[in-house]
Amino acid sequence: MKKIIVTGGTGYIGSHTCVELINSGFEVIIIDDLSNSTIEVLNGIKKITGIKPEFYKIDLANAKETFSCFNKIKNVSGIIHFAAYKAVGESVNFPLKYYKNNLNSLINIIENMQEKSFKNIIFSSSCTVYGQAEKLPVTEQSPIIKADSPYGNTKQISEEIIYDTIKSTEYLKAISLRYFNPIGAHESSEIGELPIGEPANLVPYITQTAVGIRKQLRIFGNDYNTPDGTAIRDYIHITDLAKAHIAALNRLLNKENKINYEVFNIGTGKGNSVLEVVKTFEKVTGIKLNYKIVNRRPGDIEKIWADTSHAEKELGFKTEKSLGDALLSAWNWEKKYRNIT
Ligand code: UD1
Repeated sequence: MKKIIVTGGTGYIGSHTCVELINSGFEVIIIDDLSNSTIEVLNGIKKITGIKPEFYKIDLANAKETFSCFNKIKNVSGIIHFAAYKAVGESVNFPLKYYKNNLNSLINIIENMQEKSFKNIIFSSSCTVYGQAEKLPVTEQSPIIKADSPYGNTKQISEEIIYDTIKSTEYLKAISLRYFNPIGAHESSEIGELPIGEPANLVPYITQTAVGIRKQLRIFGNDYNTPDGTAIRDYIHITDLAKAHIAALNRLLNKENKINYEVFNIGTGKGNSVLEVVKTFEKVTGIKLNYKIVNRRPGDIEKIWADTSHAEKELGFKTEKSLGDALLSAWNWEKKYRNIT
């Protein structure tokens, strides 16, 4: 059984990826500091897969802690590095918190990989690196635009750190996956997206409004240059996104990579507006959402969606689930979590 370290494995994308890894026959070891997730997620993973992964509560930005943790784990085939802070607005107010955590953890991990001769790393990047692209859909060659937020900048700098390190060594190999907008939950509703406090992202806000925790969904702007005036994103089902990691990992393990550092867009290739998301949610759940249009949210881009042809050709990765599937799964998760039938 190949052993894979998943940092941030109790988080939203991490936990769904752990499930897919276990289902694909990998042994999973989770490292997480639980700063934005709970230990109960391990029980959710166990309910789905029958296996509770080995777990280390470690602050990866702390070099000593990271070193002693890596000393305990032998024969690692690959690392999937999710652990990072991700709140765009918070990063504007606390930039050093973001640079310290997101960059130090990556550096510590790579240093330990070199020390222990661990070869393969998959990095969680984001379509935020493209900013508002001039040409849509965005390809992996689309220009990287100066990030609007420290959060976005940590993703850009992290990609550069990986690129430069790979260039300097013979054996290290990496893939960065640039995610579009992950939404939804595992079909079992045992794991899902659990934001702490008021959600910043659209879909948890929708499900919390539907369940009555939030009074009203605000749609940020209907004066964009889009067919219905609301902003457009490429929403990808979390299970599809999780599976992209298996494809990327197998590419490295099977030595199918063309160069030692590769980058892939991971999205559906289709853009949907905020209003389309709201209408689709209403259709698949039969619930009428209370919403109003308000001003644009500062820092939001107008529209983005992925060119997925590189991932399809090279990783053999293609999404399987629809926007409706994703929204229904998010709703089922929210209901189960709140004990609503
Ligand atoms: C943002 C980040 C992205 C990050 C992701 C996860 C940018 C440009 N994007 O994505 O890198 O990975 O968060 O944290 O920084 N909306 C509403 N009402 C709401 C919430 C959202 O109308 O209550 C709208 C937004 O204006 C946007 C769309 O829904 O048009 C999606 O928003 P959101 O889910 O927050 O994701 P992004 O901002 O695209």
